[in-house]
Amino acid sequence: MKQSIYQMLVLFLLLILCMVGASACVKDAPKEEFLAEREPPIDEKGQEKPAGQPIKIGFSMDTLLEERWLKDRDLFKESIEALGAEVEILAANGNDALQILQAEKLISEGVDLLVIVPHNAEATAAVVHKAHQAGIKVVAYDRLVKNADIDLYISFDNEKVGELQAQAMLEEAPKGNYVYLGGAETDNNAHMMKKGVYNVLQPLIDKGDIKIVYDQWTQDWAPENAKENMAAALSANGGKVDAVIAANDATAGGALEALKGYGLAEKIPVAGQDAELAGIQRIVQGTQTMTVYKPIKTLAKETAELAVALAKGEKVAVNRKVHNGKAEVPAVFLSPVRVDGTNLEDTVIADGFHSETAIYGPQ
Ligand code: GAL
Repeated sequence: MKQSIYQMLVLFLLLILCMVGASACVKDAPKEEFLAEREPPIDEKGQEKPAGQPIKIGFSMDTLLEERWLKDRDLFKESIEALGAEVEILAANGNDALQILQAEKLISEGVDLLVIVPHNAEATAAVVHKAHQAGIKVVAYDRLVKNADIDLYISFDNEKVGELQAQAMLEEAPKGNYVYLGGAETDNNAHMMKKGVYNVLQPLIDKGDIKIVYDQWTQDWAPENAKENMAAALSANGGKVDAVIAANDATAGGALEALKGYGLAEKIPVAGQDAELAGIQRIVQGTQTMTVYKPIKTLAKETAELAVALAKGEKVAVNRKVHNGKAEVPAVFLSPVRVDGTNLEDTVIADGFHSETAIYGPQ
């Protein structure tokens, strides 16, 4: 009897211990903060930059041939200057060799930090190596640089972009033949967006409700290439297409040119991205179903703040990591927003991304 009471007591104590131990285990894992540090800025003579001399940021852009990048350029410049720093902006309009030359020019001029929107995720890795040799950190803006030790990546959640597009299309066409017009294969974002689309569609594909009858990348995100691909998809399927997901509004515009030829514009749902003015106007007219709005002002402002802080050798904290094939890169992901005919006021108009006059014309 005495022994059994003793055993009960031991058991009871063990139980208490176990319960205390367990609750500690299920507490949320603490967020890992990534501290990207840097030595104080140095000038071209290798001297520490005299206090008061403005920080100079180099901004190497893929292209200015699309509406959104013009906004990125202006909003980034505005944000950098608001922080008392300077920025030199160069754009290569889709030419890899030129982008590398331009980035090397910024490095040789001794910028304090390089921000880059790569045309080709792989080709720009060489630039990162050169920048680091010169003691210059590199931030990838919107698009990831692959296979390089970049110091920070900041973008929107591009997988989420694809998910928002696919969800909107399923609401309009829960069954049928889908066409996917991807972005540029050289752009890592295009791969993330496509992954998002298939995250949502795959279960329906497995069930046999949805059939992807055409799926192609669009070289250089060019509308004319999207139009050609859409025409190929229509002729290959005898015009039997029930929905089109185009990776951005520019390619959606190209697709709609081809759909018009088959009398399908306004007849089938079309998804886009970027909330370009033409895309928004097509939503108002009813030829495009939705787009994905990415508040570029936030992206530009946050990048400017992080870039200037890094250039000053300050610590920055981010709470995401992305593996770019070479390293776990500290990252910041911002949220994309679904836009259709029901929420233009609360999104792109409210943010001043487009004015009512620009969208609807003079009232
Ligand atoms: C992507 C970007 C999109 C789209 C596209 C074409 O990288 O995330 O918003 O604009 O480039 O330039």
